[in-house]
Amino acid sequence: MENFSELVKVRRSMRKFTDEKITAEEQRQLMRAALMAPSSKGLHSYEFVVVEDGHQIAELAASKDRGAEFLTGAPLAIVVMADPAVSDVWIEDASVAATMLLCQAEDMGLGACWVQIRERVDEQGVNAEDNVRRILNIDPSKRILCIVAVGHKGMERKPQNEERLAWDKVHSQTLIF
Ligand SMILES: Cc1cc2nc3c(=O)[nH]c(=O)nc-3n(C[C@H](O)[C@H](O)[C@H](O)COP(=O)(O)O)c2cc1C
Repeated sequence: MENFSELVKVRRSMRKFTDEKITAEEQRQLMRAALMAPSSKGLHSYEFVVVEDGHQIAELAASKDRGAEFLTGAPLAIVVMADPAVSDVWIEDASVAATMLLCQAEDMGLGACWVQIRERVDEQGVNAEDNVRRILNIDPSKRILCIVAVGHKGMERKPQNEERLAWDKVHSQTLIF
Protein backbone atom coordinates (compact mmCIF):
# COMPACT_ATOMS: atom_id res chain seq x y z
CA MET A 1 0.00 0.00 0.00
CA GLU A 2 1.40 3.37 -1.01
CA ASN A 3 0.02 5.51 1.75
CA PHE A 4 -2.05 5.40 4.91
CA SER A 5 -4.88 7.59 3.56
CA GLU A 6 -5.47 4.98 0.86
CA LEU A 7 -5.12 2.08 3.30
CA VAL A 8 -7.86 3.34 5.63
CA LYS A 9 -10.19 3.69 2.65
CA VAL A 10 -9.69 0.22 1.16
CA ARG A 11 -9.52 -1.69 4.45
CA ARG A 12 -12.73 -3.63 4.91
CA SER A 13 -13.53 -6.56 7.14
CA MET A 14 -12.69 -9.75 5.24
CA ARG A 15 -14.53 -12.92 6.20
CA LYS A 16 -13.72 -15.07 3.17
CA PHE A 17 -10.22 -16.39 2.53
CA THR A 18 -8.35 -18.55 0.06
CA ASP A 19 -6.62 -21.74 1.25
CA GLU A 20 -3.19 -20.12 1.01
CA LYS A 21 -1.25 -20.21 4.27
CA ILE A 22 0.28 -17.19 5.96
CA THR A 23 4.02 -17.70 5.93
CA ALA A 24 6.25 -17.44 8.99
CA GLU A 25 7.70 -14.19 7.63
CA GLU A 26 4.21 -12.75 7.11
CA GLN A 27 3.26 -13.76 10.64
CA ARG A 28 6.38 -12.05 11.96
CA GLN A 29 5.52 -8.87 10.06
CA LEU A 30 1.99 -8.88 11.46
CA MET A 31 3.15 -9.42 15.03
CA ARG A 32 5.88 -6.80 14.66
CA ALA A 33 3.17 -4.20 14.00
CA ALA A 34 1.10 -5.40 16.97
CA LEU A 35 4.09 -5.17 19.28
CA MET A 36 4.70 -1.61 18.12
CA ALA A 37 1.19 -0.57 19.15
CA PRO A 38 1.12 2.38 21.54
CA SER A 39 0.08 1.48 25.07
CA SER A 40 -0.74 3.36 28.23
CA LYS A 41 2.45 4.35 30.07
CA GLY A 42 4.32 2.21 27.53
CA LEU A 43 3.46 -0.86 29.60
CA HIS A 44 2.48 -3.05 26.62
CA SER A 45 -0.09 -5.02 28.59
CA TYR A 46 -1.14 -6.92 25.45
CA GLU A 47 -0.20 -10.50 24.58
CA PHE A 48 -1.09 -12.69 21.62
CA VAL A 49 -1.64 -16.31 20.72
CA VAL A 50 -1.04 -17.07 17.05
CA VAL A 51 -3.13 -20.06 15.98
CA GLU A 52 -2.55 -21.93 12.73
CA ASP A 53 -3.91 -25.34 13.66
CA GLY A 54 -7.09 -25.94 11.66
CA HIS A 55 -8.71 -27.99 14.42
CA GLN A 56 -8.15 -25.26 17.02
CA ILE A 57 -9.34 -22.57 14.60
CA ALA A 58 -12.55 -24.57 14.06
CA GLU A 59 -13.02 -24.73 17.83
CA LEU A 60 -12.48 -20.96 18.09
CA ALA A 61 -15.10 -20.47 15.35
CA ALA A 62 -17.60 -22.19 17.67
CA SER A 63 -16.53 -20.27 20.77
CA LYS A 64 -19.56 -17.98 20.52
CA ASP A 65 -22.99 -18.49 19.03
CA ARG A 66 -22.65 -16.03 16.14
CA GLY A 67 -20.17 -13.76 14.44
CA ALA A 68 -17.22 -16.17 14.60
CA GLU A 69 -18.32 -18.93 12.17
CA PHE A 70 -16.25 -17.56 9.31
CA LEU A 71 -13.06 -18.28 11.27
CA THR A 72 -13.27 -21.88 9.99
CA GLY A 73 -12.08 -20.60 6.61
CA ALA A 74 -9.19 -18.54 7.99
CA PRO A 75 -5.62 -19.87 7.83
CA LEU A 76 -4.58 -17.75 10.82
CA ALA A 77 -6.30 -16.60 13.99
CA ILE A 78 -4.55 -14.19 16.33
CA VAL A 79 -6.00 -14.09 19.82
CA VAL A 80 -5.51 -10.64 21.33
CA MET A 81 -5.42 -10.60 25.10
CA ALA A 82 -3.91 -8.57 27.91
CA ASP A 83 -2.94 -8.71 31.54
CA PRO A 84 -5.12 -6.41 33.72
CA ALA A 85 -2.47 -6.64 36.43
CA VAL A 86 -0.08 -4.83 34.10
CA SER A 87 -2.45 -2.02 33.12
CA ASP A 88 -5.86 -0.80 34.26
CA VAL A 89 -6.53 0.22 30.66
CA TRP A 90 -5.70 -3.16 29.13
CA ILE A 91 -8.82 -3.04 26.93
CA GLU A 92 -7.55 0.10 25.24
CA ASP A 93 -4.02 -1.33 24.89
CA ALA A 94 -5.31 -4.55 23.34
CA SER A 95 -7.77 -2.70 21.08
CA VAL A 96 -5.02 -0.54 19.63
CA ALA A 97 -2.87 -3.64 19.03
CA ALA A 98 -5.78 -5.37 17.27
CA THR A 99 -6.27 -2.31 15.07
CA MET A 100 -2.59 -2.36 14.18
CA LEU A 101 -3.02 -5.98 13.09
CA LEU A 102 -5.97 -5.05 10.85
CA CYS A 103 -3.99 -2.22 9.23
CA GLN A 104 -0.78 -4.26 8.85
CA ALA A 105 -2.72 -7.08 7.20
CA GLU A 106 -4.23 -4.64 4.71
CA ASP A 107 -0.83 -3.14 4.02
CA MET A 108 0.41 -6.63 3.12
CA GLY A 109 -2.53 -7.17 0.77
CA LEU A 110 -4.10 -9.62 3.22
CA GLY A 111 -7.65 -9.62 4.55
CA ALA A 112 -8.54 -9.51 8.23
CA CYS A 113 -11.52 -9.21 10.55
CA TRP A 114 -12.00 -8.61 14.27
CA VAL A 115 -14.04 -11.24 16.16
CA GLN A 116 -15.25 -9.89 19.49
CA ILE A 117 -14.75 -12.23 22.46
CA ARG A 118 -14.85 -10.04 25.59
CA GLU A 119 -18.41 -9.60 26.96
CA ARG A 120 -19.87 -12.13 24.55
CA VAL A 121 -22.17 -14.47 26.46
CA ASP A 122 -24.88 -16.48 24.72
CA GLU A 123 -28.48 -17.08 25.88
CA GLN A 124 -27.42 -20.23 27.72
CA GLY A 125 -24.89 -18.18 29.66
CA VAL A 126 -21.91 -19.65 27.82
CA ASN A 127 -19.06 -17.18 27.93
CA ALA A 128 -16.92 -16.88 24.77
CA GLU A 129 -13.90 -15.79 26.79
CA ASP A 130 -14.08 -18.96 28.90
CA ASN A 131 -14.35 -21.04 25.72
CA VAL A 132 -11.29 -19.45 24.11
CA ARG A 133 -9.37 -19.80 27.38
CA ARG A 134 -10.19 -23.53 27.53
CA ILE A 135 -9.43 -24.21 23.84
CA LEU A 136 -6.00 -22.61 24.03
CA ASN A 137 -5.23 -23.27 27.69
CA ILE A 138 -4.80 -19.57 28.42
CA ASP A 139 -3.87 -18.58 31.96
CA PRO A 140 -6.76 -17.07 34.00
CA SER A 141 -4.61 -14.00 34.71
CA LYS A 142 -5.06 -12.93 31.05
CA ARG A 143 -8.22 -11.33 29.68
CA ILE A 144 -9.20 -12.05 26.10
CA LEU A 145 -10.41 -9.15 24.00
CA CYS A 146 -10.84 -10.51 20.50
CA ILE A 147 -9.54 -12.75 17.75
CA VAL A 148 -8.19 -11.24 14.54
CA ALA A 149 -8.71 -13.58 11.57
CA VAL A 150 -6.12 -13.15 8.81
CA GLY A 151 -5.81 -14.69 5.38
CA HIS A 152 -5.46 -14.05 1.69
CA LYS A 153 -8.58 -12.27 0.49
CA GLY A 154 -11.21 -14.62 -0.90
CA MET A 155 -13.46 -11.93 -2.31
CA GLU A 156 -13.44 -8.30 -3.36
CA ARG A 157 -14.93 -5.65 -1.14
CA LYS A 158 -15.79 -2.10 -2.06
CA PRO A 159 -13.67 0.57 -0.38
CA GLN A 160 -15.21 2.79 2.28
CA ASN A 161 -17.74 5.16 0.78
CA GLU A 162 -16.44 8.73 1.19
CA GLU A 163 -19.95 10.05 0.49
CA ARG A 164 -21.35 8.28 3.54
CA LEU A 165 -18.84 9.33 6.17
CA ALA A 166 -20.62 10.52 9.32
CA TRP A 167 -19.17 14.00 9.39
CA ASP A 168 -22.00 15.01 11.74
CA LYS A 169 -20.17 13.08 14.45
CA VAL A 170 -17.26 15.49 14.20
CA HIS A 171 -17.80 18.53 16.37
CA SER A 172 -15.46 21.28 15.28
CA GLN A 173 -15.39 25.06 15.21
CA THR A 174 -12.94 25.09 12.34
CA LEU A 175 -14.01 22.43 9.89
CA ILE A 176 -16.91 23.25 7.60
CA PHE A 177 -18.73 20.20 6.22
C1 LIG B 1 -15.10 -4.02 18.50
C2 LIG B 1 -15.43 -4.78 17.24
C3 LIG B 1 -16.06 -6.00 17.31
C4 LIG B 1 -16.33 -6.72 16.15
N1 LIG B 1 -16.85 -7.98 16.26
C5 LIG B 1 -17.05 -8.71 15.14
C6 LIG B 1 -17.45 -10.06 15.24
O1 LIG B 1 -17.58 -10.63 16.32
N2 LIG B 1 -17.68 -10.73 14.07
C7 LIG B 1 -17.51 -10.15 12.84
O2 LIG B 1 -17.73 -10.83 11.83
N3 LIG B 1 -17.10 -8.86 12.72
C8 LIG B 1 -16.85 -8.14 13.83
N4 LIG B 1 -16.37 -6.86 13.73
C9 LIG B 1 -16.19 -6.25 12.41
C10 LIG B 1 -17.31 -5.23 12.14
O3 LIG B 1 -18.50 -5.92 11.88
C11 LIG B 1 -16.90 -4.33 10.96
O4 LIG B 1 -15.72 -3.64 11.28
C12 LIG B 1 -17.99 -3.32 10.64
O5 LIG B 1 -19.14 -3.97 10.15
C13 LIG B 1 -17.54 -2.30 9.59
O6 LIG B 1 -17.10 -2.93 8.41
P1 LIG B 1 -15.64 -2.69 7.82
O7 LIG B 1 -14.66 -3.23 8.82
O8 LIG B 1 -15.63 -3.45 6.53
O9 LIG B 1 -15.45 -1.21 7.62
C14 LIG B 1 -16.05 -6.15 14.87
C15 LIG B 1 -15.42 -4.91 14.81
C16 LIG B 1 -15.08 -4.24 15.97
C17 LIG B 1 -14.32 -2.93 15.87
